[in-house]
Amino acid sequence: MDAWDAHAAQRLAKGPLRPLEPPARMEWTQRPGIGPGAEILGEDLAGRRVVELGCGPGNNAAHLTSIGAKVTGVDRSKGQIQRAVAHYGHHGTEFVHSRALGYLTREGERLDAIVSVFGAIGLGEPAKLLSACSRRLERKGVLAFSVPHPQRTGTIPASPRTRDRMTLPDGTTATVDRWDIDPAAWVRAFNRAGLLITGVSNLFAPADARWPTTLLITARKP
Ligand SMILES: C[S@@+](CC[C@H](N)C(=O)[O-])C[C@H]1O[C@@H](n2cnc3c(N)ncnc32)[C@H](O)[C@@H]1O
Repeated sequence: MDAWDAHAAQRLAKGPLRPLEPPARMEWTQRPGIGPGAEILGEDLAGRRVVELGCGPGNNAAHLTSIGAKVTGVDRSKGQIQRAVAHYGHHGTEFVHSRALGYLTREGERLDAIVSVFGAIGLGEPAKLLSACSRRLERKGVLAFSVPHPQRTGTIPASPRTRDRMTLPDGTTATVDRWDIDPAAWVRAFNRAGLLITGVSNLFAPADARWPTTLLITARKP
């Protein structure tokens, strides 16, 4: 069982989940109210086709639905999808149990935006996933994603593959493998995938953090 399945299993074991109202804001960091919201995806998302890769319990996907987008949340963890459906399935968001790459290559519909919030982008080698995103995006479509900042401990890791510890709801820990690359390496990876970077932000969450905690990157299909 991977860390996200274990996380979901512990949350599901606590009892039945109840439907929730979608959050009022899109969050790109793990603290509320820091940095931009959904406006970085375009001014009016009504009717726009958006996919979230690694949606977890579905909060951001549900927010995007609440402002009129047609949203699919994709997650490789069955338990996380169960949580997302229980919380927000009533609200019109579609949730699909799948690996991100499999979903993107299996389906054909063109997308206006693809997002990942500490999700599938950054949790594996990016080349194939970014190329698949590029193929699915409409011209001028937006790809936006956030990852733990590579400089969050004050130094850039020597190797792009790192292993983080994550605390599960019961207090035990699990490990998560990441692709921890600096902004310049992301720019190269995006260029190779045929996507143009339009913004790179270093976010501090909490606001008084010593080092940036979150790297937020936006790109556009030319
Ligand atoms: C830190 S959680 C983020 C969840 C959500 N985006 C949020 O902000 O609350 C990472 C999620 O990405 C999912 N994930 C990791 N690799 C994936 C992949 N290759 N395809 C789809 N989902 C993936 C995990 O199962 C997990 O639910």
